[in-house]
Amino acid sequence: MNNAELYQKNNSLQKRDALDALEEFAKKIRWKKHGDRVIDIGCGDGGITINILKEYMPENFERLVGCDISENMINFANIHHGNERTHFTTLDIEGFLPLTLKNKFDHAFSFYVLHWIKHQETAFTNIYNMLNVGGDCLLVFIGYHPIYEAYRILARNNKWSSWLQDVDRFISPYHDSQDPEKEIKKMMEEIGYINIEVSSKQKVFIYNNPESLKKAVQAINPFKIPLDVFNEYFEDYMDAFRHMIQIREINNNESDIIKFSYNLITVYATK
Ligand SMILES: C[S@@+](CC[C@H](N)C(=O)[O-])C[C@H]1O[C@@H](n2cnc3c(N)ncnc32)[C@H](O)[C@@H]1O
Repeated sequence: MNNAELYQKNNSLQKRDALDALEEFAKKIRWKKHGDRVIDIGCGDGGITINILKEYMPENFERLVGCDISENMINFANIHHGNERTHFTTLDIEGFLPLTLKNKFDHAFSFYVLHWIKHQETAFTNIYNMLNVGGDCLLVFIGYHPIYEAYRILARNNKWSSWLQDVDRFISPYHDSQDPEKEIKKMMEEIGYINIEVSSKQKVFIYNNPESLKKAVQAINPFKIPLDVFNEYFEDYMDAFRHMIQIREINNNESDIIKFSYNLITVYATK
């Protein structure tokens, strides 16, 4: 999951969901209108930071920082999108928070990242500590997703089990939760956040053909499946996925449409 070129061409789902969240919360975000300092956590290739998030920011912002655990992503983002007011830096959001990032931001955003994080409390505490008092955050991440059930099926298959042995590491901590909204709100209250709004909503997405799903799967694939067996892996992946989703067969020589639903968690809160 650190191939920036591949990711930026195959992230239509992530783009749509970042846009939906910003549309919904744009009016709530406490923009200062002048001198805002913004951080995008897990910015990846920086495409969403610049082409989507920045569009919602006041023009007179002071600085926009993107951070990500992947050096490849950060190098790509700095080369393609870095300038005087915008830069990208490596950071593990569930690791140690450097002093240079403490109490330094008016707004923190994170799109499609926090479901990768096992130490949720550490990540949410780090985000809290990055903010100034009165600052706010908008966080978007996956709860339940059929892709995780496909991972579990593949992890039980002898052919793939050695590559998927740490499968739990890559399943959202909220995939099996009965009440993720309550769980997250409680954790955030304990950290000190106020005005907390958490929603877990079912969303639907459609890939127009298996090839576009394959590229999207490849772009976010966390397992070290060798390239020469990836096609075979994807066939088994599709079989596993097929159990959970609707695949509409089209008979006039066109390819199948892949439609699935998942739960997306959106959090807005202030410090
Ligand atoms: C699906 S991408 C999302 C990228 C971007 N936010 C977007 O919406 O297009 C997930 C990103 O989270 C990053 N990530 C995963 N674990 C992380 C961690 N512990 N700290 C910071 N970034 C992390 C990955 O390197 C990857 O770039």
